[in-house]
Amino acid sequence: MALAADLGGAPTRLLPMTRHHIEAVAAIEQVSQTHPWSRRMFEDCLDAGYSGWVLEAEGPAVVAFAVNSLAMDDAHLLNLAVAPTARRGGLARRLLDHVLTQARAAEAQRVLLEVRESNGAAVGLYADAGFRLLARRRGYYPAAGGRREDALVMVCALADGVGGGA
Ligand SMILES: CC(C)(COP(=O)(O)OP(=O)(O)OC[C@H]1O[C@@H](n2cnc3c(N)ncnc32)[C@H](O)[C@@H]1OP(=O)(O)O)[C@@H](O)C(=O)NCCC(=O)NCCS
Repeated sequence: MALAADLGGAPTRLLPMTRHHIEAVAAIEQVSQTHPWSRRMFEDCLDAGYSGWVLEAEGPAVVAFAVNSLAMDDAHLLNLAVAPTARRGGLARRLLDHVLTQARAAEAQRVLLEVRESNGAAVGLYADAGFRLLARRRGYYPAAGGRREDALVMVCALADGVGGGA
């Protein structure tokens, strides 16, 4: 399936993710991650009641997505990616802001996520949005050549005095 072309500032619509979007979402995931989620994993998230969001450009074509879960006081950002040709246009930041707004509305105390240590773009995105390092999970992710890579656990506190950080 063709991925969205360069948006050149064209408008995008923010929509709840449905099963109808999963083929396009999985195509973005496939070219965005070294160990991508399968279509089934996205379906399972929707079936489990997790929140999924897409940004859709004219076409319509999905150009970005996010998946997050809410349990007790914590929201957990599980996945987020932007189609390669649509990057550096503020789409990830827009999705992330929406996830944070939704978490606040649900009265979550903090948003947590794991990110590969080597993923400078994502670490920069999250740090820029107010996330701080909480912990490191050694060897959490599979990596090339049978190796493992550490995950950085990052947290964004939504309420005063909550969340911690380093
Ligand atoms: C990480 C990713 C989601 C960023 O998407 P994006 O739409 O290009 O990001 P934005 O344009 O919203 O950028 C917001 C901020 O993130 C940071 N950032 C984004 N891409 C970056 C890059 N390549 N290098 C360094 N910082 C980057 C910057 O702080 C940027 O702010 P700025 O443009 O004012 O400098 C995108 O590169 C992607 O889909 N990567 C593959 C999937 C992935 O790694 N997902 C995260 C899994 S935890």
